[in-house]
Amino acid sequence: MIQFELDTDKSLFNGALDLAEKQVKTLIEGAPGFYPMYTTDGRWKHEGPPGTHWCDGFLPGMMWIFHKRGLLNKRHAVNGSAAPDPSFWFQKAAEYSQPLESRQHDQDVHDLGFIFFSSYYRWYQATKASELNVVLMQAGRTLAGRFQEKGQYLRSFVAENSLFIDLMMNVGLVFYAARESGDRRLRDIAVRHCLTTRRYLVRGDGSVGQEGIFDTSTGEFLKQTTHQGFRSDSCWSRGLTWAIYGFSTCYDYSRDPRLLETAERCADYYITHCPSDGVPPWDFQAPAETRKIVDTSAAAIAASGLLRLCRILPDPVKGHFYWNTAIRILRSLCDQYLVSTDEERDGVLKGGVYHMNRSLGIDESAMWGDYFFVEALVNALFKR
Ligand code: GLY
Repeated sequence: MIQFELDTDKSLFNGALDLAEKQVKTLIEGAPGFYPMYTTDGRWKHEGPPGTHWCDGFLPGMMWIFHKRGLLNKRHAVNGSAAPDPSFWFQKAAEYSQPLESRQHDQDVHDLGFIFFSSYYRWYQATKASELNVVLMQAGRTLAGRFQEKGQYLRSFVAENSLFIDLMMNVGLVFYAARESGDRRLRDIAVRHCLTTRRYLVRGDGSVGQEGIFDTSTGEFLKQTTHQGFRSDSCWSRGLTWAIYGFSTCYDYSRDPRLLETAERCADYYITHCPSDGVPPWDFQAPAETRKIVDTSAAAIAASGLLRLCRILPDPVKGHFYWNTAIRILRSLCDQYLVSTDEERDGVLKGGVYHMNRSLGIDESAMWGDYFFVEALVNALFKR
């Protein structure tokens, strides 16, 4: 096992986690039952329907992480945290996870991995209650229903001819359902989806396209396009970090070395194209006028993905390099982008971007950014 020196960062990371627990507590006291996506002018947006429902697991997911942190603090006899007792977070996390149960059958979104890995999977890990695993397996089967034989991919929510890089964060649930149920057909679907994504959305230099378009009558791949990136041939930063994290997860399930190679290639693109603080512009080829706009949510996902990757890599030297990079990113986020307690702001991390091309959630807090940030902080502190 690699030993890492973390002492100088411990108080920084614990301070950020204390802040996160405080912000989430304030949110659920002020707006009970509300599942936010991103802030507008620093406030979780409360008016109007959200338009999309891919983020609902992240709020309970943070609560499950806080619960785990509380247990780990007790086990490691860490004192001095202002955080609530773990039983408080257990009760709240279950309360906010339970309403997601019916989403196990949701055929309208490709986001069931986002929704269920953050909520029911963590709930199941905490309790081992078999009825929770039944929900997880069904969600994986529902997601597998998106598979297109012609083209060999899970279709995105947009249309039958559309494959998204974001799906790499969700296909892990199909692997999970295959493993838990013993259904080899599900595993086969998951592997084929990953290999199609690798072939058509991951470029030779490790950058990625967000969307692939196929001819549904023949399965022929036609072109790369984008929704949230700058251009079809650019590299949207968050898409790249979904690939780092997603290919790492899928390698962990499949042990297919092609998926590990892809995760490393994407990670190396991220590291070699990022500024020295590890926080990327919203798109790696963003034009001059928006080049200064960063996406901290991409940085948080990258940090968490690199921590995963470094644990599954056979090469300890490269693992150590990814570990150090993840710590550097987390340090930058804590130093430069934490919401200050003096400000009247919601959320934990400032400087996220939801959808540049639709002018939504630019330089704001985002639920997914906060979730992967706290996941990475806890894993950096405890999973060595
Ligand atoms: N649709 C997922 C994302 O905005 O990254």
